Amino acid sequence: MEQPSRRNVLMTGGVLGALGALSVATPAQARPLWTWSPKGSVVGAGKGVDPRWVWDEEADPLVASLIDRGDVPKVNMLLKTWTKNGQALPAGLPADLKAFIEKARQLPSWADQTKLATAYKFNQKRGTYLGVSYGFASGMMSTVIPHEARAVYYSKGGADMRDRITKTAKLGYDIGTRNAFLPDGEMIVTCVKTRLAHAGVRHLLPQSPYWTKVADEQIPISQADMMVTWHSLPTTVMKQLTRWKVPIPADESAAFLHSWQLTAHMLGILDEYIPGSWDEANSQAAQVLDPVLAPTTEGVKLADILLHLGVTIDGGILTTHILGALTRYMLGDEICGWLQIPREPVWDPVFEAFWPTFVAIKEGLLKITDAPPGLLQVYWAFDEIIRLGTLLFLSGGNLPISIQIPTANNPN
Ligand code: HEM
Repeated sequence: MEQPSRRNVLMTGGVLGALGALSVATPAQARPLWTWSPKGSVVGAGKGVDPRWVWDEEADPLVASLIDRGDVPKVNMLLKTWTKNGQALPAGLPADLKAFIEKARQLPSWADQTKLATAYKFNQKRGTYLGVSYGFASGMMSTVIPHEARAVYYSKGGADMRDRITKTAKLGYDIGTRNAFLPDGEMIVTCVKTRLAHAGVRHLLPQSPYWTKVADEQIPISQADMMVTWHSLPTTVMKQLTRWKVPIPADESAAFLHSWQLTAHMLGILDEYIPGSWDEANSQAAQVLDPVLAPTTEGVKLADILLHLGVTIDGGILTTHILGALTRYMLGDEICGWLQIPREPVWDPVFEAFWPTFVAIKEGLLKITDAPPGLLQVYWAFDEIIRLGTLLFLSGGNLPISIQIPTANNPN
């Protein structure tokens, strides 16, 4: 398989997906009590401990130790060569890390390759909608998830959002590939490296004078935070597709969920917190995601950076307006108000009026011949706009993307 490079990751819409996990609320104390039952999880059982107080007991002490003993630069360099799920680990890794990765790279017993093959079919068929929803629903939503927004803003990645998006894009790209979880694919590697990166953030952020001043938690990226961000991805995306009346066969819908359940597991989320069905996912999201959405200074700044990433292409003349309007269409007026995204007199009505028709045509629900005059041009313009989102980030050449364990916070 072709080595995913910055360019091809971005070309396939991964970047849009990437915005989705940019990393996540009203103060923790405002969160309701954890009442979601592990009976609804992918394994149907669990201890039922409130996930706000659970992190990653295997990865966290290990990565803290790697950072403290100065091993991370060497480890990051060695792990650059580990790209395929089935590939042997490079020689020279510290023994404790090697043992951790060998365990963490194993798929759980409930992984179902038949469902994953169906998920690939779904990703291929619905790539456009998935890309745009990951980017402008999930991605922009991450800026109104206070824990995530602050973690991203004050961690190392916050200093270079373009690089951060590009790296996160890799996950959005890998999950949609044919062989995502097969030995010649890369999703397992991406998830395990991300798990290590998150463990690094858990160790480093509490040392940031900026983060500690504003944070309402002592250690970031709890299992609850992970689930919040997870819901900003598949659960939110599926809501958008349903809102647009995209017909989705039951097996494809279940398969898409399965690929994200597996992703959650490989990222170190405990099985007892991973919803076993869409109904369970929606009920958990209502408990953990919806109540925490809120503006923060950091989130407003991140959203502004994201909306202006196209400045290098067109000076922001068109891109910023289009991205703002897309965000409003996806997330609505309230969130755009929080993020101080201005109304777009030209583009807001365009998305409002034409997106449903665009979807309908794409789905073959409307015959092209029935389309009002000019609609075809608008249809193609939409596809172009979506591609533009990916083009924003193409300026960086073809370097392979490697997710790394951070060694520092954002210095600013
Ligand atoms: C890093 C995905 C949840 C904060 C990353 C990376 C990926 C990723 C792919 C590597 C990119 C890079 O190195 O820049 C995800 C997914 C999540 C999730 C799929 C949930 C399903 C969270 C949550 C938080 C968070 C809940 C915070 C509350 C961060 C931070 C980084 C990171 C701060 C490191 C950036 C740096 O290196 O400075 N995440 N993430 N993530 N994530 Fe997450």
